[in-house]
Amino acid sequence: MDSLTLTRPDDWHLHLRDGVHLAAALPHTARQFARAIIMPNLKPPVTSTADAGAYRERILAARPAGSDFTPLMTLYLTDDTRPEEIRRAVDSGFVHGVKLYPAGATTNSASGVTDIRHCDEVLATMAELGLPLQIHGEVTDADIDIFDREAVFIEQVLAPLMQRHPTLRVVLEHITTREAADFVRQGPARLAATITPQHLLFDRNRLLVGGIRPHLYCLPILKREVHRQALLDAATSGDPKFFLGTDSAPHSQSAKHSDCGCAGCFSAPAALELYAWAFEQRDALDRLEGFASHYGADFYGLLRNAERITLQRQDWALPATYPYADEVIVPLLAGETLPWRLALSE
Ligand code: NCD
Ligand code: ZN
Repeated sequence: MDSLTLTRPDDWHLHLRDGVHLAAALPHTARQFARAIIMPNLKPPVTSTADAGAYRERILAARPAGSDFTPLMTLYLTDDTRPEEIRRAVDSGFVHGVKLYPAGATTNSASGVTDIRHCDEVLATMAELGLPLQIHGEVTDADIDIFDREAVFIEQVLAPLMQRHPTLRVVLEHITTREAADFVRQGPARLAATITPQHLLFDRNRLLVGGIRPHLYCLPILKREVHRQALLDAATSGDPKFFLGTDSAPHSQSAKHSDCGCAGCFSAPAALELYAWAFEQRDALDRLEGFASHYGADFYGLLRNAERITLQRQDWALPATYPYADEVIVPLLAGETLPWRLALSE
């Protein structure tokens, strides 16, 4: 197979940042994807519908000429979020979910939730109105090993949460373990998961053997090979509970090359090509369209895109860096050769 045509995909988990960084990051996503769920972890976070509306306007204004990219906004859940805010969000028509960051779990999560039981009233309103909860699924207890934080979260937080709120729609974001894939597969239809390209392509050896690779450091951290295989099984299974969410999370090269380097992989420049490469490892390119272009829209209750795009088998090397405001940013797999390339209509 030398070319693959599919429905234009959407990215169901994306960080775009703001200001000059938004302007630098957005074109990479807008050339591939029709829509994206935009994460609210700005500084300060996007906690109200008014904030989300203003951020949405800034994203629309930053689109490259001719782009019809649609941002799907989210609110950042805090201990203080009120049910009235959820009603405003649903009424707006542009907010498509509320993001749970356990406080301290990842980049810009200091205002996150300290105990999800503080949010039960808000979650009940979300369940009533059908607004999905998007979850960064890691516990933050200092005594839980970083490689175990997702599995412990599922057992201690997510399973009880699903029981307390039996109609709440939930997306477990960027899953990284066999435990997460099993939990989602066995769960009800109101539970789904996104999977990133880096977690399908790499295990933790790639991050740590022979030198530390800061551009493969993200949260949740890459896991053992057995988990990567379980994620590949899930993504290529054709099960509509698993769909594309890059978690592309731009940080400048200097923020990554530091004594305390930031978490996040910048996958946007070659996102779809990276997924195609992963699916090809399983001889499952025929399953890519469902994962990338159908199941996420179906879960969120949105129409599938009508437009189509084409990937061509063509070796190409990712640039070492891209401009990022007055700095540079290193993409995931910088300088390496990928076997698939998006054929652009421009
Ligand atoms: C994200 C970021 O940089 O905003 N980083 C990451 O490693 N994925 C935050 C997040 O999604 O955890
Ligand atoms: Zn993220």
